Amino acid sequence: MSRILIVYQSRHGSTKDIANTIAARLKKAEHSVNVFEKPFTAPVPIGYDVVILGSATYLGRWLAGMRRYYLRNRELLSAVNKVWLFSSGPVGEQDNLAYNTPTPVDEIKKQLHVQDHVVFSGKLDRKNLSLSELVATKIVKASPGDFRNWDAISKWADDIADSLQ
Ligand SMILES: Cc1cc2nc3c(=O)[nH]c(=O)nc-3n(C[C@H](O)[C@H](O)[C@H](O)COP(=O)(O)O)c2cc1C
Repeated sequence: MSRILIVYQSRHGSTKDIANTIAARLKKAEHSVNVFEKPFTAPVPIGYDVVILGSATYLGRWLAGMRRYYLRNRELLSAVNKVWLFSSGPVGEQDNLAYNTPTPVDEIKKQLHVQDHVVFSGKLDRKNLSLSELVATKIVKASPGDFRNWDAISKWADDIADSLQ
């Protein structure tokens, strides 16, 4: 049994469902899993065998809370032997765009023991968006719909669980 810390950030809730699915699969594989939705109040990564960090992607970047969690904890995180990263984002035509690796994932990969980073398709519901977000969706070609692939999300978590046996 591994002790697993999941810290992630979601703005409109779709990354929350992804993180909870990952947590449920890891718990089913009998790992001890602590999940924190708010990086501001998440604990320091001490006493964990595995850390999973994730965020929704906005304008090519992880949300600010996750960027700060990484910066604040990067020394402690670099002592964790197994780190996995996930980003949620592309919606609609965005799948074709080059910025599918959001900032600061490449930087984190250089600094921590990252086993894998995956980009999961996300969900966009126009009625949840502010006016400025609606304008921004035009720029990043984000289309409404739920593009989340639950099989891919579950498989990613199951592969992590298998690698920890
Ligand atoms: C204003 C805005 C900007 C976005 N920018 C990006 C982007 O740069 N890259 C991307 O892959 N997805 C982008 N998306 C899509 C979101 O990442 C996607 O809707 C995601 O599932 C939202 O997660 P959340 O519901 O957890 O906040 C954007 C969405 C909005 C509303």
